[in-house]
Amino acid sequence: MPHSGSLATDAAALEQFAADVKYYLSLAPPQLPSRYFYDDLGSALFDTICRLPWYTITRAETRLLAAHGADIFRCALAVTDIIELGPGSGEKLKILLAGLPRASGASRAAHLVDVSPAALASAAQTIGVLPDVHVVTHQATYDAGLREAASAVAGRTLVAFLGSNIGNFDAPGAAAFLQNVRACLAEGDALLLGVDLVKPERRLLLAYDDPLGVTAAFNKNLLLRINRELGAGIDLDGFSHRAVWNGAQSRVEMHLVARSDQSIRIPRAQVDIHLQAGDVIWTESSYKYGPEKVKSLLESCGFRPTAQWIDRDDDFALTMAEAL
Ligand code: AVI
Repeated sequence: MPHSGSLATDAAALEQFAADVKYYLSLAPPQLPSRYFYDDLGSALFDTICRLPWYTITRAETRLLAAHGADIFRCALAVTDIIELGPGSGEKLKILLAGLPRASGASRAAHLVDVSPAALASAAQTIGVLPDVHVVTHQATYDAGLREAASAVAGRTLVAFLGSNIGNFDAPGAAAFLQNVRACLAEGDALLLGVDLVKPERRLLLAYDDPLGVTAAFNKNLLLRINRELGAGIDLDGFSHRAVWNGAQSRVEMHLVARSDQSIRIPRAQVDIHLQAGDVIWTESSYKYGPEKVKSLLESCGFRPTAQWIDRDDDFALTMAEAL
């Protein structure tokens, strides 16, 4: 998820990174968690991906927010406070807030939750230019930050979880995440969820294996990070980036494929594994939904979907739901 991976700058985070790398590489097939994509270089590469013509999520969502901002708040009457989980640069929230009606005298708060101080600073700067919006940052994981923000809000709350970040959870993970969001909200509060929809395989593969090779660099940067932070000497040229559409599971998978036999020693994670040519390390899943599937997922997690806006050009949905 953008900016949500911990930057292994302190000892505890580095230890967690090492433990996760050791555990996930021991699975069959070996895996690496996608939350570790987002060190400084990975975050910059992700921002570049969002500008590529083949990766349409950011532009489609921005168009929907700009076109339907006022409708969004008509569906979530009396919202005064917004909590955004993973605000990125803050640009989308800025557009969304433009649609929030200003009740005279009422204060409005924007709570930004992210583990990355750099991401929070950039989003706070973007939102800070808006008049009458009080910005509060929470440097924390989504779960901890949401709990903290929810206990600080005074009025009716809207949680925004945008960018199809929900797509990086598997089905049980997505349900657990949304149930936790519901548990932090009061009845009548709202959730705005941005989700990328299933589309033709050719378009999905171009989005996750772009002709400029930016997504390949984003994927391989995980190996670079392991080399730098965990003292490994993995040969980056020994791996190729691959994106695969798994239709049965409705997800795009990103893999790193060994181009020849590779011995991987990661001293700080006590990893010593051997891969044969063609073996894969599975680094990310991006689940794609149908519009009805989004609604039924929300219903199963204690929400009532109240409206849905779909961008048909790029097959992307924004869904509004009320906490029951
Ligand atoms: C952050 N997340 C929603 C992106 C996605 O589309 O799954 C991450 C990404 N991976 C490759 N390109 C972008």
